[in-house]
Amino acid sequence: MHFRLILFFNLVINLNAQTGSFPDCKSGPLSTYPICDQSLPSHQRASDLISRMTTDEKITQLVTTAAAIPRLGLPKFEWWSEALHGVAYSPGVSFGGDLPAATSFPTPINLGATFNLSLVYHIASIISTEARAFNNEGRAGLVFFTPNINIFRDPRWGRGQETPGEDPFLTSQYVYSLINGLQRGEDERYLKIAADCKHYAAYDLENWNGTDRFHFDARVSDQDLIETYLPSFESCVRDAKVASIMCSYNAVNGVPSCANKFLLQTIARESYHLDGFVVSDCGAVSTIMNSHHYTSTVEDTVAVALHAGTDLNCGDFYSKHTQQALYNKTIVEADIDQALQRSFNVLVRLGYFDPPEQQPYRKLSHADVDTAETRKLSLHAAQQSIVLLKNTNKALPLNLNQLMNKRIALIGPTANATVLMQGNYYGKAPFLIDPINGFQAVTQGYSINISFAYGCKISNVDQSGFAEAIELARLSDIVIFFGGIDQSIESEGHDRTSIALPSVQLALLEQLEKVVRSPLHVVIMSGSSLDLTYIRDSSQYDSLIWMGYAGQAGGLAIANIMFGQYNPGGRLPITIYPASYVDAVSMFDMQMRPSPMNPGRTYKFYTGQAVFEFGYGLSYTTFSYSWYNDSMNSIFSIEFLMKNNYDEKKVRLHLYRVNVTNTGEVAGDDAVLAFITPPKTSFNDQTPPIKKLFGFERVRLDVNEMTQVFFPLNIDALLTVALDGSKWLEPGSYKIIIGKQHIHTVQLQGQPTRWS
Ligand SMILES: *[C@@H]1O[C@H](CO)[C@@H](O)[C@H](O)[C@H]1NC(C)=O
Ligand SMILES: *[C@@H]1O[C@H](CO)[C@@H](O)[C@H](O)[C@H]1NC(C)=O
Ligand SMILES: *[C@@H]1O[C@H](CO)[C@@H](O)[C@H](O)[C@H]1NC(C)=O
Ligand SMILES: *[C@@H]1O[C@H](CO)[C@@H](O)[C@H](O)[C@H]1NC(C)=O
Ligand SMILES: *[C@@H]1O[C@H](CO)[C@@H](O)[C@H](O)[C@H]1NC(C)=O
Ligand SMILES: *[C@@H]1O[C@H](CO)[C@@H](O)[C@H](O)[C@H]1NC(C)=O
Ligand SMILES: *[C@@H]1O[C@H](CO)[C@@H](O)[C@H](O)[C@H]1NC(C)=O
Repeated sequence: MHFRLILFFNLVINLNAQTGSFPDCKSGPLSTYPICDQSLPSHQRASDLISRMTTDEKITQLVTTAAAIPRLGLPKFEWWSEALHGVAYSPGVSFGGDLPAATSFPTPINLGATFNLSLVYHIASIISTEARAFNNEGRAGLVFFTPNINIFRDPRWGRGQETPGEDPFLTSQYVYSLINGLQRGEDERYLKIAADCKHYAAYDLENWNGTDRFHFDARVSDQDLIETYLPSFESCVRDAKVASIMCSYNAVNGVPSCANKFLLQTIARESYHLDGFVVSDCGAVSTIMNSHHYTSTVEDTVAVALHAGTDLNCGDFYSKHTQQALYNKTIVEADIDQALQRSFNVLVRLGYFDPPEQQPYRKLSHADVDTAETRKLSLHAAQQSIVLLKNTNKALPLNLNQLMNKRIALIGPTANATVLMQGNYYGKAPFLIDPINGFQAVTQGYSINISFAYGCKISNVDQSGFAEAIELARLSDIVIFFGGIDQSIESEGHDRTSIALPSVQLALLEQLEKVVRSPLHVVIMSGSSLDLTYIRDSSQYDSLIWMGYAGQAGGLAIANIMFGQYNPGGRLPITIYPASYVDAVSMFDMQMRPSPMNPGRTYKFYTGQAVFEFGYGLSYTTFSYSWYNDSMNSIFSIEFLMKNNYDEKKVRLHLYRVNVTNTGEVAGDDAVLAFITPPKTSFNDQTPPIKKLFGFERVRLDVNEMTQVFFPLNIDALLTVALDGSKWLEPGSYKIIIGKQHIHTVQLQGQPTRWS
């Protein structure tokens, strides 16, 4: 979904749509109808409203830019707003007047790197507060098409930056916290805003080798679907109870997602109990016919989409062709009613038809946007998300006192990055602190000369800026290279073909190496994996940092980290692959497990040697773990577990208690990651995951401080997913790994037994 699509699909959307007006339930035409009666259940109110509409009126409500129905006193409503990491440009959102900007948080890939769920919740609750304030002042809708919870399957994917990374468990935990922060606030009677989990399902390819997302048919095994592609949606829908999901552009196993009854009806509604609506990705109803050629007439297209359960059309296919489908009898009016009941029910739950004076969310205003607290949180989030990948001889942190009267050169195309640090789906930020400004702020009063040379662009081969950069490096005591990529390399509609650092940047680095007085420091901005082997291995480089796209305060956060005002504790939420990875596997290959044409995907299945592993990240301090080995029951009979299952998924076998101690010389954060390694072969799965995450917790510790972290081991973590998607308990040894340490082994004994 993107603005360019508006042109692409010839949609006409008024970007200045007045989105903040509400129906008049006091004295308007609706005021005497059940829709305005708060004592009735929401679905009953919604159904009654729909029953008052004529067929033509109903059809105008099936699309995201819904027309007003003046006869009923129903204002027009724009369903499409965005808020990926802050209220963002979209048809429903406008910046200006009292609301010139919204807080710009780090992108989701950064939030994944924090491994801090309370941070995710906190950020989401601020985004929903700002979103409501925008809505109250007529500058945003109430429905936000966020988050993106597709699994970052392949490092080439242009939109991986919008997700918290490659792991289904991390993504599931993330989305649960996020949806709680977006949808639930102080007033439990109302949705704070309506969120939308997208893109359902198996969407993670933009445009590769001549096939784009509108035409791609993702061939996904039941095993991968259940184990990898669906868990985040299950968490979003079943556990977090999101108000809507978005069906994706691609097809899944031959059926376009928005026409996919199995995904929308059987899985999302019947199995996950979706209580809300399904919206198509923008234009994705049209692509059922025009790209996938799954249907050949407009009336059949409307019918397959509505019958599958695509309730709301982002686009205009339903508004143009639903009348025709009715005439042609491929649908009946009840199909329209059902769709509208699902979407209007959400509007009722948002308080759209209720008196504003009773609703705390309606009182939020521009005074609640871009506050001292949100500025601090965005900075803190950026600090928490930065990952230290290399730090030879404790070259970092830099010492302000030792650098008095010295020269620091910031060289490279991202040293003055501003909007670049907002990734994609961003809004107008109140300010953008680039690294130069961040370094200047942090060194103020120390008479340290901070100077900048651009050197080269992100990927343009032009070397005309090299000379100035080399000259500056020669004169400087410390040289910090700021490289990486941007939306010209990875973006919506645009996958990468190479995951190497752009060659012009490597060429510049080679030149800088020759003149620097001390080894270089490198900072990388990117939303995805870049092969950093050379920098990792070369003694010409003392430190290496990945900082994602860190939002409005990114430049200050990186300066704080490099000068030790914040001790880095972020961990990679993705595998950093060698550049050759892209030659080893087709992007069309959705399979997670290795095959002769596929070295395996993500830390769970990749058989090659990662440049940096999922979960990797250094600190300026050290931590040690201790745990009890005794009194742990290690042997379980499968038969016993089955008998004592009590029909509950979350049967607990163990509670691991790990003491984490800061054994170094400075305070710092440790993200403690708990993995389980299943037996190497099994009855159902000859290639089980190498390991899988089943718990994580980020802790902050002062020097010598100790804290206990708890990791429940539930049956879910032990289940094997068979080829047909069924889940099994299988005999064998399961190793529990905390960080890198093998702390316990659980034995399951008995026969392989189907769990669900
Ligand atoms: C997690 O984030 C919250 C911000 O909401 C912060 O208060 C807390 O210190 C963070 N935890 C750690 C261990 O950094
Ligand atoms: C629906 O349209 C098809 C052609 O697109 C036509 O063959 C069929 O008779 C129509 N059915 C009705 C009930 O109008
Ligand atoms: C960064 O500096 C380069 C070279 O001076 C300039 O071309 C570019 O526009 C600057 N970028 C930003 C975001 O200011
Ligand atoms: C900082 O260093 C640069 C490059 O060496 C030099 O051009 C500039 O004059 C210096 N600035 C100050 C304030 O010393
Ligand atoms: C990419 O496209 C080319 C040309 O159509 C084709 O020969 C090649 O097999 C394709 N590669 C993959 C991995 O699909
Ligand atoms: C962990 O810390 C607790 C609380 O201080 C202590 O009682 C316990 O002995 C420690 N356990 C281990 C294994 O170090
Ligand atoms: C547990 O076992 C590990 C390694 O076998 C050992 O280093 C550690 O001291 C043991 N811890 C306790 C509390 O017995």
